[in-house]
Amino acid sequence: MGREKTVFVCQNCGYRTGRWLGRCPSCGGWNTLVEEAAVPQPKLKKRGVLNFLAQGSGPVPITEASEVEYSRFPSGIGVLDAALGGGLVKGQVSLIAGEPGIGKSTLLLQLSKGLAEGGKKVLYVSGEESAGQIYLRAKRLGALDERIVVLPETVLEKIEEAADEVKPDVLILDSVQTVFSADLESSAGSVSQVREVTYRITELAKRGGITAFVVGHVNKEGQIAGPKVLEHIVDTVLQFEGERGSFYRVLKVVKNRFGPSGEIAVFKMTSEGLREVPEPSAFFVSERNAGRSGTVVFPHTEGTKPVLLEVQALVLPAVYSTPQRRSEGFDPNRLSLILAVLEKEAGIFLRDKDVFVNVVGGVEVDEPGIDAAVALAVASSAKNKPVPPEVAVFGELGLTGELRNVYFAEARVKEAKRFGFNRVLVPKTVAEELKEEGVEGYGHVKELLEAVL
Ligand SMILES: Nc1ncnc2c1ncn2[C@@H]1O[C@H](COP(=O)(O)OP(=O)(O)O)[C@@H](O)[C@H]1O
Ligand SMILES: [Mg+2]
Repeated sequence: MGREKTVFVCQNCGYRTGRWLGRCPSCGGWNTLVEEAAVPQPKLKKRGVLNFLAQGSGPVPITEASEVEYSRFPSGIGVLDAALGGGLVKGQVSLIAGEPGIGKSTLLLQLSKGLAEGGKKVLYVSGEESAGQIYLRAKRLGALDERIVVLPETVLEKIEEAADEVKPDVLILDSVQTVFSADLESSAGSVSQVREVTYRITELAKRGGITAFVVGHVNKEGQIAGPKVLEHIVDTVLQFEGERGSFYRVLKVVKNRFGPSGEIAVFKMTSEGLREVPEPSAFFVSERNAGRSGTVVFPHTEGTKPVLLEVQALVLPAVYSTPQRRSEGFDPNRLSLILAVLEKEAGIFLRDKDVFVNVVGGVEVDEPGIDAAVALAVASSAKNKPVPPEVAVFGELGLTGELRNVYFAEARVKEAKRFGFNRVLVPKTVAEELKEEGVEGYGHVKELLEAVL
């Protein structure tokens, strides 16, 4: 026979092709195709067990399809249970994604502790650390409990054997990139392996009613190797984020088959591990320097429970001929758009200015409600006039400068008022709907700026 057959696999989306390409035609990623040995792909059709929630007795009238009863149990971490909609579910598979060093192993060991204290048996599989290293961390975190079984292992088949033997209630796999199946020839961390490992752990979980957590490291672009393939296999995706150099960590529920998504849980990293922050609004705005220009409070939510965030902006004369636009925790393209609207609709010219925007606390905001807060913070810094300290603001900004309604307006107003922000600036439509004292409606960004600056 000729040379061994190989195939090129996109490490981002799993697209397969016979020849090398610079750019993946499926997901558009550059340089993501990697040559792998062409072994037959696992037959996905046989994997019906994965859809265990979708299994049943065939078609039934919806009125007779009684509610799925999830048997929930607490994780031992209150803020996590709350974010997940009331605890963990038997057979649930969660992906915990985050950059190296953010605290994923710490969180999972603390979770193991909480579960063990609740009488659950935990199998903690680490492909990254020895049993001794895990012991040392567990000792520091006060998580030494005989119901936690540790297994340093990277071969998937051995992990499956161990799970059959130990019969844990909860299985933790740290991390998916370090484990590989002997059935595949590609190396650990490749998209084929990562997908195979996640599939097989999911099968194991569904078959044995085991609740599983799979750690996934994200790369510098903030993506897990093969993010699309992994995210649709698992039930829940938890994103662990934090600002570099900050002690605060935010766990965001990005996907959840058993409850709401978009909720967040906030922690503080200490030498004894992660400490829960039950009132995130209080602490996100606690270090705020309210008397200064360029800061404003924004009630944020992508789930159901809003949290108050401080949005800061700094506007300075540009150093270079191309002015800088930087943003942390907020889409930089959206920032450019807001600056353009400010120029056209509010007469604030920033073409010869550097503009920096920061969402304090390390939360990544991915909803348009922040637009009005960014616009106000930028205008405040540009004019060097502080926003009155009792003001909170939210609303989407349209291209003609109009302020638009966003989700959960009432809950946002409530959260702002709960923390003493007695002037809540909102889109006009929201104010007309709520008719509430302290809620000021504005139809256009220019009116909003004139009202407070
Ligand atoms: N001995 C220690 N004392 C205090 N904090 C520590 C100690 N060791 C690690 N940490 C904290 O834990 C973090 C590493 O967490 P870890 O759970 O290993 O991250 P990940 O698993 O996401 O790579 C470090 O960034 C540091 O903040
Ligand atoms: Mg780790």
